[in-house]
Amino acid sequence: MTSARNRIEIMHGVNLDQLGRRDPAHYGGMSFDELQFRIDEFADELDLHARFFQSNHEGEFVEHLHRLEGGLADGIIINPGAWTHYSYAIREALELAQLPAVEVHLSDVQAREQWRRTSVLEDLCVATVSGQGVEGYREALVRLKGALES
Ligand code: DQA
Repeated sequence: MTSARNRIEIMHGVNLDQLGRRDPAHYGGMSFDELQFRIDEFADELDLHARFFQSNHEGEFVEHLHRLEGGLADGIIINPGAWTHYSYAIREALELAQLPAVEVHLSDVQAREQWRRTSVLEDLCVATVSGQGVEGYREALVRLKGALES
């Protein structure tokens, strides 16, 4: 049994499983499997243990957050996709999880349509990283590790 707080839940929401088919100008050409593979490598480099979850169903996503409260993870990296901008259900479930979280977006949400500039989760998160593509997940893991060690 280790006392290190290094178990990170990497949560992707709606349509993120379709990476590779989505607009490469915003999301690059990487498939979702490749993205997860790269995140796993970043986590290894930082001595973190990544576990992955993705759903296109808001209720499943919410229920997964409910399960995390039971000590299954130490921190969360969350990219809820379009739910970011309006899902108070996901916001409230993230609050219930009571874990440090970092919000990530592959694209630069602040530089796109007006409706993407709102995040209903932002103030619950330790940090938000956006517009850096896959590299943003490395920064997000670094930020989360810092929060777990402080
Ligand atoms: C996204 C940005 C969202 O606005 C969008 O709906 C997505 C992906 C991103 O990673 O850039 O599905 O979260």
